[in-house]
Amino acid sequence: MYAIMGATGKVGGAAARALLARGEPLRVVVRDAAKGKPWQERGCEIAIADLDDAAGLARAFGGCAAAFVMLPSNFDPSPDFHETKAKLATLRQALDEARPGRVVALSTIGAEARRPNLLNQLGLLEQALATPGLPTTFLRAAWFMQNAALDVAAARDTGVIQSYLQPLDRPVPMIATEDVGATVAGLLTESWDGPRIVELAAGGVSPNMIAAAFARAIGKPVRADPVPRADWEQIFRSQGMTNPLPRMQMLDGFNEGWIAFGQPGTIARQGRVGIDDVVTKLLAG
Ligand SMILES: NC(=O)c1ccc[n+]([C@@H]2O[C@H](COP(=O)([O-])OP(=O)(O)OC[C@H]3O[C@@H](n4cnc5c(N)ncnc54)[C@H](OP(=O)(O)O)[C@@H]3O)[C@@H](O)[C@H]2O)c1
Repeated sequence: MYAIMGATGKVGGAAARALLARGEPLRVVVRDAAKGKPWQERGCEIAIADLDDAAGLARAFGGCAAAFVMLPSNFDPSPDFHETKAKLATLRQALDEARPGRVVALSTIGAEARRPNLLNQLGLLEQALATPGLPTTFLRAAWFMQNAALDVAAARDTGVIQSYLQPLDRPVPMIATEDVGATVAGLLTESWDGPRIVELAAGGVSPNMIAAAFARAIGKPVRADPVPRADWEQIFRSQGMTNPLPRMQMLDGFNEGWIAFGQPGTIARQGRVGIDDVVTKLLAG
């Protein structure tokens, strides 16, 4: 039995679909029963648990050959990341209680970066969930190509997408969430010892390449424009963020190259889905 968190989201959903396609038995962890119904209809067991419910998560992971665990994104954290720390303490407690055979935890490119930024939250995850004697893989995924969902309306309506990744011709390691989910499914069924870190990307994709993919899919010109660094804070605050600094520091890390792959001691895996496929699907809704 494999337990999957986040199945109503992009990565967990793709992982669950990939495991079902292999005929593997699955326990899907959802926050309410209604969201579990479609998975139940596909033959999955359902466990209802939230990241503030250690006992529920322990029941969800109990007796499993392997469990996939993840945190939801938090772009606007408190300066001390206390929300993330509380969720990690819950996960830690649940894993200690349930002791699944193996754990695959979703992490990110840049999780090892010491400089303050948003991705320190996933660095905390790696520290909190490394467990002596429990084979654990931290899957450091590249920038999700699906982040381009935010550009769909602008590409279609104005032919201009706004980019915080700069310069516009600089490729950044990216990955489609289908590939992340498929990799999670593969990792869950492998055997290994102790903690290990896997870096996953399909290749480098620049903002100009994203704009070109939109242009090809829409059939009209689309270009990327850089959002001036001096405007970021005001833009993020106008969107409702109260602590935009960690997000800005993360973008600096990508743009300055100190958030990068090729970290010593990691294992590299390669995704297959390209930006054209992702953009075409995003446009189709
Ligand atoms: N965006 C990127 O470029 C990137 C790159 C690398 C790594 N990541 C990491 O990827 C993760 C996000 O993955 P995703 O895009 O697949 O997420 P997503 O599509 O936003 O889905 C989030 C999932 O988490 C569940 N969830 C939310 N709050 C929860 C809680 N309190 N307890 C239990 N489950 C909860 C949601 O369930 P409901 O349906 O009930 O809300 C949903 O299934 C983050 O950890 C992020 O740091 C992102």
